[in-house]
Amino acid sequence: MADIAVIGAGYVGLTTGTCLAHLGHNVTIADIDEIKVQKLSEGEVTIFEPGLSGLLTQGIENGNLKFVVGATSASRNAAFHFLCLPTPPNPDGSTNMEYFNSAIEEIKDILPPNSVIVNKSTLPVGTASQLKKQIQRTDVEIVSNPEFLSEGNAVQDFLQPSRIVIGAESQEAASSVAALFKDIDATTQITGTESSELIKHTANAFLAMKLTFINEIATLCELVGANVLDVAEGIGYDPRIGSTYLRPGPGWGGSCFPKDSASLLQTANKAGFDFELLEKAITLNQTHLQRTAQKVVDALPQGKEPENSKIAALGLTFKAGTDDLRSSPSLAVIEHLFNLNARVSAYDPMVNLPIENMSKLEITSTAYEAASNADALVILTEWQEFADLNFERIREAMRHPIVVDARNLLNPQDLELLGFQYIGLGQ
Ligand code: UDX
Repeated sequence: MADIAVIGAGYVGLTTGTCLAHLGHNVTIADIDEIKVQKLSEGEVTIFEPGLSGLLTQGIENGNLKFVVGATSASRNAAFHFLCLPTPPNPDGSTNMEYFNSAIEEIKDILPPNSVIVNKSTLPVGTASQLKKQIQRTDVEIVSNPEFLSEGNAVQDFLQPSRIVIGAESQEAASSVAALFKDIDATTQITGTESSELIKHTANAFLAMKLTFINEIATLCELVGANVLDVAEGIGYDPRIGSTYLRPGPGWGGSCFPKDSASLLQTANKAGFDFELLEKAITLNQTHLQRTAQKVVDALPQGKEPENSKIAALGLTFKAGTDDLRSSPSLAVIEHLFNLNARVSAYDPMVNLPIENMSKLEITSTAYEAASNADALVILTEWQEFADLNFERIREAMRHPIVVDARNLLNPQDLELLGFQYIGLGQ
């Protein structure tokens, strides 16, 4: 079993380190945040991720999972150094490498001889080659091993992945990293570092594009009287298309799709390639978010101006099953609603505090409270809890029984029977 340092106890680092410990390795996870390290050492998981807490406690109890402050203490005795640092976007869409570079500066001279740096964070193409020159350590190998973890399903995605991608310039380094995952039953693809880095960006940009496509089809369905759910089902049977990532929504978001597609566009620009298709998919998503807000305003009772109305928004996280608000489509739609002068009350099962820079948004502690005196209600996140609400009670609370279902979560017939005007997406 290997001695592994994981640098960064964020979403990716915590899942990666905890799962590597579960596979039997000796793992030390480092972070600069002392409070976080303290909490984690006591078994308190700082993010919401099903299954993670149990594995973390198990690792601590077994003695093969530790948390420390600072990369140096973790890396000093490790053979593998997994870099799981935040790579947020710069205003122009390129990747901010500040955290990554400062961790590298910190550890490059103390790395034990012949150890391997494993880039887990999503990094621009060319980072591994550049890093090799930067650290000036001929004995240290750089390997790219992108994560494909989806929030809410990260532990399972790690332990039962669709594939393991390893990008390396030496076969020996690739094999040593592949050996860390030997107990995982998955296809392992070994490539050069550039291809591996590009695989990650391409996967996310492709899925985002697929979603833009189905959202555009949803708009078309509304104009021609078709139902996008039937269309998605019909094309999904074709294995060349596949049935996932075809659920239309208010627009796509989250901590990865917007950042990774913008970064890929920057990579293309830098390489002198005008990636028009990707650029259009990104701008169309913005249009779609705006269109969703407009749809809610258009649904208001006749003669009711947005400034004199109240809208109840259900769902703030970027998807169900997470507490993550980063680049949430729900928040983008609400921003557009504010720009259209509407007043919005929102409820989300995972959010109970005011949201930064959204002081106008009233957060309620139940869906019924949000619906109170509302002129329209919009479903923005697909929490199952919303489908299970007592809609008779919702109708009684509302001023006008109008529902815009931007996730197609509810049953239109049921709502219509209860006297609601139901407006789905692409139906
Ligand atoms: C994504 C990738 O799935 C994962 O492999 C990568 O490592 C990180 O980015 P995540 O950000 O957790 O994971 O979200 P995901 O479940 O893929 O959803 C992204 C966005 O697409 C969300 O806004 C979601 O609501 C939306 N979506 C997804 C749809 O609107 N319809 C769908 O059918 C699927």
